[in-house]
Parts: sequence; C-alpha cells; structure tokens
Amino acid sequence: MPLVTTDRLLDPARAEGRGVGAFNVIQVEHAEAFVAAATRVGSGVVLQISQNAARWHGALEPIAAATLAIARAADVPVVVHLDHAEDRDLVTEAIGLGFTSVMYDGSALDYDDNVAATAAVVAEAHARGVFVEAELGKVGGKDGVHAPGVRTDPAEAVAFVEATGVDALAVAVGSSHAMTDRTASLDFARIAELRAAVPVPLVLHGSSGVPDADLTRAVETGMTKINVSTHLNNTLTTALRAYLDANPTVVDPRKYLGAGRDAMRDEVVRLLGVLRAP
Ligand code: G3H
Ligand code: ZN
Repeated sequence: MPLVTTDRLLDPARAEGRGVGAFNVIQVEHAEAFVAAATRVGSGVVLQISQNAARWHGALEPIAAATLAIARAADVPVVVHLDHAEDRDLVTEAIGLGFTSVMYDGSALDYDDNVAATAAVVAEAHARGVFVEAELGKVGGKDGVHAPGVRTDPAEAVAFVEATGVDALAVAVGSSHAMTDRTASLDFARIAELRAAVPVPLVLHGSSGVPDADLTRAVETGMTKINVSTHLNNTLTTALRAYLDANPTVVDPRKYLGAGRDAMRDEVVRLLGVLRAP
C-alpha cells in the first residue's frame, strides 16, 4: 500500500468522531511495532519522526529511510510525518526524502511571526503535495517547562488557519509533553469550542499524560490526531528492563529489543481501541 497524506486518515476520522494514532519513531523497532499494531487492528497510522529524534541520530535520512521503507511495505495506509520541526531546512529535507506530512512548530514565535513562517512552509509543502500541521498556543513540557494552563483561543485559531492555509492544527487544551504519569486534565469545553470553530482537524500533543477515558472523550469531543510518544517509550523501557532482569546473561539485542517491540505493538493495539481508531 502506498504512503498516504495525513488528510486521507484525518478527514474521515474527523467526520466520524474517530481518532488517528500518531506515534513517535526513535528506533526502527518503533516503526515496526506501530505498523504491526495498525495492521492487526486494520487501521491507518501516522509514524512521526521529530526534529529532536533526527538530531539524536545525527541526521534525518537514516531513520527516515527505514521508516519510509516500513511504511511503503505496509498493508494499511501509513503516513510518515516530520514532528515538531522548528528548522526550515529540515522541513525541506523531509519533503525531499518523501515524507507525506510535516509539522512546522512556530509556537515559540509571536503570533505574526508564527503566521508568516507557517505560511511559507505551507507554500513549499503544498507545491509538493505534502500535508502541513502547525501549532498555535504552546503545548508545554518539551523543554521541561509544563504550562497546563495555556489555552488556544478559538477566534485566533480560525484566523491562523485562514492566514496560513494549514491542514491541521495542534492546540493547547491542558495536555503537556513528556508526562510519565497519566494525570493531565483536559479542557473539554475548550476542545468543543475549537472543534466547532476551526475548519481543519485538531491535534492533541502530549497525549501520554492523558488517562484512557479522557483520550476517548477527547476524540469524541473533537480532537482527531492523537500524538503519543513518552507512554510508548515507557512501555518499551519497562519491557526491556524486565527482560534483562530475568535474563542477566543475554547479549543478543534481538532478544530484549524483541520483547520491547512486542510490548509496544500490544500497547498500540490497545491504544488504537481507546482512540476508536479502527
Ligand atoms: O509530538 C509528539 C507528542 O506530542 C508526544 O507527546 O511524549 O507527551 O506523548 P508525549
Ligand atoms: Zn508534540
């Protein structure tokens, strides 16, 4: 099945009140696990590589090439998406590599600069048939600073979408990045207001901190693309630790990475049900 652009997954999901799982790839085993899970439940999935993950590898291309190959070989529709790019050159590189979707993150800029920079990315990406997500109202936690009180203003969001032409919008509604407990409190009234006002699908960042029941409610209330990273890294690391504790003489990384990959696959199968994705 070919790679798809994100609208192919988000538009029907938004219309039907379903969610689309968007999971962060750091190692190749993440991509393998996420596609295995999506295949098992028969849903599409977004594989996303963040600017931070590319920096950690020292380059975007190696992990991107592996992820794109896994996506192209899948039996379900798969998006390969650049996540939280603040570097315009990285956006250009991702488009050249064959990503079908990019997030330009200008949320640290003031409103006018965010509009101008995002509009320029949209012009570049749309010319190549690539989907664009942007962020308005900074979802905290990426730099360790949590700001769960930040909210995206619905009227400003409408103006931002109109001025930039973005295809999806990440909004601040109470979640925070990189939470290792699931205690975030979402503002469902604000989600409903944004869903009613904003003409493009809404993206929930920092979903790891949101309890299962609230993820389901967020989808039903109007969030469509649900980004999960930290929670699945916790799943991976917990499984690795258990395997290594139980098998202290193991040296073959396929043994413990296999345990971690299986654990992520099973957790994504479960999460896709929570998101009403299939
Ligand atoms: O863009 C990625 C997500 O917002 C993931 O956030 O690690 O808190 O789940 P998380
Ligand atoms: Zn995020």
